[in-house]
Amino acid sequence: MILVFGSLNIDLVAQVPVIPGPGRTVLAPSYQTHFGGKGANQAVAAARIAGAGRVHMAGRIGRDGFGDRAIENLRANGVDTALVIRTDEPTGCAFITVDQAGENAITVASGANMAASADDLSSALFGPDTVLVLQMEVPFAQALAAAHLTTSAAGVVIWNLAPVPEKMTREMVTQLLAATDHLIVNEHEALDAAAAIGFAPSDYEAAAAELARAGGLTCVVTAGAQGALAVTANGARVRALAPRITPVDTTGAGDTFVGAFAAMIHEKVPLQTALRVGCEAAAQKCLKPGAQAGMPMRAKIPSLA
Ligand code: RIB
Repeated sequence: MILVFGSLNIDLVAQVPVIPGPGRTVLAPSYQTHFGGKGANQAVAAARIAGAGRVHMAGRIGRDGFGDRAIENLRANGVDTALVIRTDEPTGCAFITVDQAGENAITVASGANMAASADDLSSALFGPDTVLVLQMEVPFAQALAAAHLTTSAAGVVIWNLAPVPEKMTREMVTQLLAATDHLIVNEHEALDAAAAIGFAPSDYEAAAAELARAGGLTCVVTAGAQGALAVTANGARVRALAPRITPVDTTGAGDTFVGAFAAMIHEKVPLQTALRVGCEAAAQKCLKPGAQAGMPMRAKIPSLA
């Protein structure tokens, strides 16, 4: 099974001419409500490729209307929600501005996501077939505990180090690397993570190489229009190009990559194929507004059609 342990949000999205800096206000004509949260986004992206019933979501939502909608959306996308638990805090909510180039700025009010607990996960869930997908929008200690449950059962851990926490300590990154098989980061996250464990790499490829070596893992860097690069523990490089597109909204592109990549790792395809499918899925996502609407079904992925 593919198990995503992470965040569920409702995204409130406004298109703006320019993303405002500190102390600035911009007017947007309106706003839209979309489904989001890095965990839920990754679960939906994986389910659209892996198929209904193959992806399970674990996390927390509030006893509120946003929670009802978030869980209904996952079910409608074929994601098993038996491990999504109601809690007293409100469902997570993200406030997103998107500019004319499709770039975004996001503020997440975490709410119920901060109550997510690895205690909700029975060890019976985990086995060699488990691919666990983690991000950084639920408490780190709980994500780490879920990773340990997976590695103890000889499963595979994919950890998307996003968003980078305000205070990311050396110990945190060291623990994360030790518990991970595939680390997925963007260019900035790669540099930040390498810096946290004492390196000062010149670019993201050097950062990926340091992280892969330090963790004995495969480090995947998503680099937008430049595609994706993977560096394995022994230093081998694998690359995939991104399809050329004109983005409408990049929100959730990284999550789409992660979900598609997880579906491919679960199918045990070669790393190059997993990278290419991730890039193809992420590019298609960017053609529609909102984190999830553009995520492609399997038949729409050129490499899988
Ligand atoms: O990666 C995009 C996601 O980040 C959004 O859906 C938002 O909810 C935040 O979690």
